[in-house]
Amino acid sequence: MKNVVVLCGGRSAEHEISLLSAASVLNQLDRTKYRIAVIGIERDGSLYVPELLRQRLGLEDVEDLTFPEGDHLACILARLKPVTDIVFPVLHGPYGEDGTIQGLFEIIDVAYVGAGVCASALGMDKIQSKRLLLAAGLPVLPFATVNRSQWGSQPELLSEIESRLDYPMFVKPSNLGSSVGINKSKNREDLQEHVSVAFHYDDFVIVEQGIDAREIEASVLGNETPRVSIAGEIIPSREFYSYEAKYVDQSSRLLIPAPLTDTEMERIRDLALRTYEVLQLEGMARVDFLMDRHTSEFWINEPNTIPGFTQISMYPKLWEASGLAYPDLLDELISLGLGRHQRRRHLSSRR
Ligand SMILES: Nc1ncnc2c1ncn2[C@@H]1O[C@H](COP(=O)(O)OP(=O)(O)O)[C@@H](O)[C@H]1O
Ligand SMILES: [Mg+2]
Repeated sequence: MKNVVVLCGGRSAEHEISLLSAASVLNQLDRTKYRIAVIGIERDGSLYVPELLRQRLGLEDVEDLTFPEGDHLACILARLKPVTDIVFPVLHGPYGEDGTIQGLFEIIDVAYVGAGVCASALGMDKIQSKRLLLAAGLPVLPFATVNRSQWGSQPELLSEIESRLDYPMFVKPSNLGSSVGINKSKNREDLQEHVSVAFHYDDFVIVEQGIDAREIEASVLGNETPRVSIAGEIIPSREFYSYEAKYVDQSSRLLIPAPLTDTEMERIRDLALRTYEVLQLEGMARVDFLMDRHTSEFWINEPNTIPGFTQISMYPKLWEASGLAYPDLLDELISLGLGRHQRRRHLSSRR
């Protein structure tokens, strides 16, 4: 029996989707192999009281879960450490997927599922990850970056961006996710407004060349020798895969496998693996692509290091379609997390 601590909820806009993902994970973890404790993080960073968390997860009649209580997540995790084999963060966005909580796991020295500190942080940082992918010769759309002080002091900035990129452009806070603060700018007036909006969410903003794109995604799993699923396609319910399309309408459709030629499918799978290697991802990632509808070129959009995990989410669905059932996927993620922790134990930090 392994003791698994599942973390869910969290301080990001994807709080609700995290609870849905966690409910699926809790339903599918094999109880003959795992003893499970669940910790829910409220939107303000405090912890759920057990009764409310059970209710929010729709698990009222599940008896065999424990809900540790305490005043701070760090204290609970430290207290549970002697009886924890691994932590499974089913959290999305800032404070869950961006390396911060992974840093806490490292400090406590407990094994965890998914990417390490640096890869998690890169996975959330659109500017830094794109710079690295570009340096590795991988295809990312042309982009410009703006920081807050430049925005306040350089009136020529918009013209400079316009000289490098054509409308439409996509304006995004560098570190966020779930499409919050992202807008499509069709002219200078939009651009001016959308950059200001993005600065509500982050100190760094990325402006990208917008294209008319299909959205293709592939799932990657592993540490040193990752493997990749077949690719799927998202058909967003709105003009692009916005926050509304993701979480409000929920009528976007998934096509699995994505309707692609064999050559295109291989190209995507290869690019997904190369992205994983360049960013030193571990555990899992869903790598998202934009495929130009006119030229059929593929552009790497971003990795998601803790992708949605409901039973209808792309990441587990792609594995299922590639021959790996959901409970087996969970087993593998846990063993990858344990393996990484073991391996790192043997690294020396002394001369
Ligand atoms: N350069 C682009 N060209 C066309 N569509 C884009 C571009 N960048 C983003 N989008 C659209 O916006 C959505 C959200 O952008 P993305 O970079 O994936 O942010 P997030 O991390 O919030 O998911 C994408 O799924 C896609 O629909
Ligand atoms: Mg995205």
